[in-house]
Amino acid sequence: IADIKGGPKEGLELVGEQMMVRGWVRTCRSQKAFTFLEVNDGSCLSNLQCIIGPEAEGFGMIEAGSISTGASVAINGHLVESQGSKQKVELKASKLQLIGGSDATTYPVQKKKLSREYLRTIAHMRPRTNTFGAVSRVRNALAYATHKFFQDRGFIWVASPIITASDCEGAGEQFCVTTLVPNSTKDSSTPIQKIPSTKEGLLDWSQDFFGRPAFLTVSGQLNAEIYATALSDVYTFGPTFRAENSNTTRHLAEFWMIEPELAFADLKDDMACASTYLQYVVRYILEECKEDMQFFDQWIEKGIIARLNDVAEKDFRQITYTDAVDILLKAKTNFEFPVKWGCDLQSEHERYLTEKVFKGTPLIVTDYPKEIKAFYMRQNDDGKTVAAMDLLVPRVGELIGGSQREERLDVLEKRIEELGLEKASYWWYLDLRRYGTVPHAGFGLGFERLVQFATGIDNIRDAIPFPRTPGSAEF
Ligand code: 4AD
Ligand code: MG
Repeated sequence: IADIKGGPKEGLELVGEQMMVRGWVRTCRSQKAFTFLEVNDGSCLSNLQCIIGPEAEGFGMIEAGSISTGASVAINGHLVESQGSKQKVELKASKLQLIGGSDATTYPVQKKKLSREYLRTIAHMRPRTNTFGAVSRVRNALAYATHKFFQDRGFIWVASPIITASDCEGAGEQFCVTTLVPNSTKDSSTPIQKIPSTKEGLLDWSQDFFGRPAFLTVSGQLNAEIYATALSDVYTFGPTFRAENSNTTRHLAEFWMIEPELAFADLKDDMACASTYLQYVVRYILEECKEDMQFFDQWIEKGIIARLNDVAEKDFRQITYTDAVDILLKAKTNFEFPVKWGCDLQSEHERYLTEKVFKGTPLIVTDYPKEIKAFYMRQNDDGKTVAAMDLLVPRVGELIGGSQREERLDVLEKRIEELGLEKASYWWYLDLRRYGTVPHAGFGLGFERLVQFATGIDNIRDAIPFPRTPGSAEF
C-alpha cells in the first residue's frame, strides 16, 4: 500500500494497473450496490479503500457477514481514480479472498480511542493501531538512519556481548545470569527454586553462569573501547539492561543503546559527533517519514515537526555543570531535590534547563564532578571534574551520556583504587592503556528515548515493541 500511496501522484500514476493487495480489514461499510473495505498492511499509515461489488468473486462472503474488522484478506483488482475526496485512488476488486476471519464483537482493537495503558495490556494487538504502526515505522527509520550515519563515516559496527562479568557503570544495577540445570537436585550446589518446564519436568537453577558470576550488560562501552583501540572509530547498537526498580516514563529494564567510540578523539570531537548524529537522524525522519510525522504532529504532540526542524537546523547550546548549577541555584523554582555543587542533576533540573532557560533547544552539559560519574572518565586538570558530557532535550531529559575516556594508565589505576574497585578484574581494560593507548571518547544514546523525542510519545513503554519494566514481561 505504501508503494501505491507513496508514489509521486499518490497512486494516480498507477491507475488501470492490475494488482493484489493483502492486509487486515480496518473497516467494512456496506452501501446499496457496493461494499467499501478499508485495508491496511502496515507499510504506511494510510488504508487502501477497496470497492467490492456483486460482480467480484467472493462477494457472497460480504453478504454472509464473514468479512469484518481485523480479518486478513487478499484482494485482486485494478486501481481506479477515486470519486471520494479522502483519497486519490481506490482498488476495484475482481476477487476477494478471506485469509483469516475475525470476530468483530470480541476483536480487542475496537474503533473507539483506546488508552495507551490499555493497549499495553494487549501488546500482541497494539501494532494494529495507527499510533503503534507509526511508532514502529519511525523507530525502524531511526535505526536505519543510525547505521547509515555511522557507516557513511567509516565507523565499524561491533557486536558487544549481552552476557558479561563486568559492570561498566559501576552502579550495581545489573541482572544476574542464572543457569538452568535439568533434574540436578542432587549435584547442584545452590538450587534455589524449581521452575516448571515442559521438556524436562522440573528444572533447577543455580545463581551463576556455569559456575561463574555473570550479568546482563548495562553498556557495551568497554567492549567498544577494545575495538576502537584497534579499528579506530566503531559503534555498538544493541540491547542493554538495567535492574533499577524505577517506575518512570523514561526508564526501561531492557533498552537499546547506540554507543559510538571514537579513537584519537577528545570531548570536543565527541560532542560534535553527538550533535551531527542527532541532527542527521532527525532530518532523516522528517524527510522519509512525512505521513507518520504529520500524524504525530496532529494527534500526539502538536508542533513537533516545527520543533524537530529547529533541532535539525540550529546549533545546540553548551554549558558546564558548574554554570548549570549556578543557574539552578538562582532559579525561582522550588525543586523537590535541592541543588548544590556535587549533586547529580535530577529530571526536574534537566527539564528546567532545557524547557525554561534554553527554551527548547538541546543542551550539552559538560565537566561533571568526578564523584557522580563512572570510573573510566578522563579527569580534568582541576582535580574535581571529568571530561563528561550529557545531552539534554526538552521533555525527555538526558538523551545521551558520554565522555572522553581516561587513557593514562597511572591515573586510571589510581582512580580504580580510590573507588575500591577490584583492579584485577580490569586487567584487560588496563592493557588497552598499557599497549598503544590513545585519547578516545564516546557516548551512549538511549534509543527508546530518541524514539520518544522524535515522535512525541510521552511514555517510554510506548517507544519499544515489548517494554520490560518492573512486573511486565508477559509478551
Ligand atoms: O548515561 P549512561 O548510563 O551511560 C553509559 O552507559 C555509558 N557507558 C555510555 C557510553 O559512554 N558509551 O546511559 C546512556 C544513555 C542515557 O543517556 C539514556 O539515554 C539511556 O542510555 N538510558 C536509559 N534508557 C532507558 N531506560 C534506562 N533505564 C536507561 N538508562 C540509561
Ligand atoms: Mg547518564
